[in-house]
Amino acid sequence: MSDLKYLLDEVRKNTRNISERLTESHGWDHTLKVVRLAKLMAPKEDGDIFCVELAAWMHDWGRLAFPKNDKGHASLSAEMVKQFLKNWIAQRVITPRQYGDVQRAIRQHSQINSSSRKSLSLLRDADRLSRYTPDGLYQVAVYSAEKGFPFFLPDTKVLRNGNEPLLRFSDVRCTIDEFNLVYDYWKIIETPSAKLLQNELKVFIDAFLNNFANEKNLQNNSEFWLTVLKKNAEQFKTIENIFFEEKEKSINEIDFYEYIQFLNDVKNDFQMVSR
Ligand SMILES: [Fe+2]
Ligand SMILES: [Fe+2]
Repeated sequence: MSDLKYLLDEVRKNTRNISERLTESHGWDHTLKVVRLAKLMAPKEDGDIFCVELAAWMHDWGRLAFPKNDKGHASLSAEMVKQFLKNWIAQRVITPRQYGDVQRAIRQHSQINSSSRKSLSLLRDADRLSRYTPDGLYQVAVYSAEKGFPFFLPDTKVLRNGNEPLLRFSDVRCTIDEFNLVYDYWKIIETPSAKLLQNELKVFIDAFLNNFANEKNLQNNSEFWLTVLKKNAEQFKTIENIFFEEKEKSINEIDFYEYIQFLNDVKNDFQMVSR
């Protein structure tokens, strides 16, 4: 095993350990999804695949101190990464330049200003896209419940006009708002690859919001909708794992378009509401 592969393996193991102490919304499944999406996009965007993967594994380590609050977790992750990577830099497994690239991407991953740095824009885009899949939407709903938000408030707009300004984090008051916040990421994702993926993935959130808008008066009950989301999440996770596990050893070589094709093949199986 090469030194770089060994380092990635150690980082993956450490992420696994940390994830056991994290909640479902930012735990192992979330990180694994970010790693997979980042690795899918990196070759297409001329990103440094090694740096992007390293940053993706470690980006939410700082959640430990801020499990229910986004504030501060990115800088804390960057500090933890600094400690972890110190010896690897000393042993010249990674260069100071690679380290700088990784820690900068992690430190700034939750900011919304644009960036010309590839590792940073790829990490941010993968993190945002990770919420668009059925399992990502379920994690968003769980996170919202962890913060004590109701599923829906009667004065909330379920279907927003796409031209409305970017929904601000501070305006979010319920889970349906959180979904609209995720939906709005299309306005800030940067890489062409992420835009292509977002275009495919938005069908899931579209279907859910449309169904909710039609049936909210009949089933205005958070437990019902959480069950719907959970069921879809588990179904999606199972089939998506098969897709990725087949490619595990050569994930860098995965044709990006194969994943798009996979999404096209499965999307009709998801109505995002149980019948
Ligand atoms: Fe994060
Ligand atoms: Fe994240």
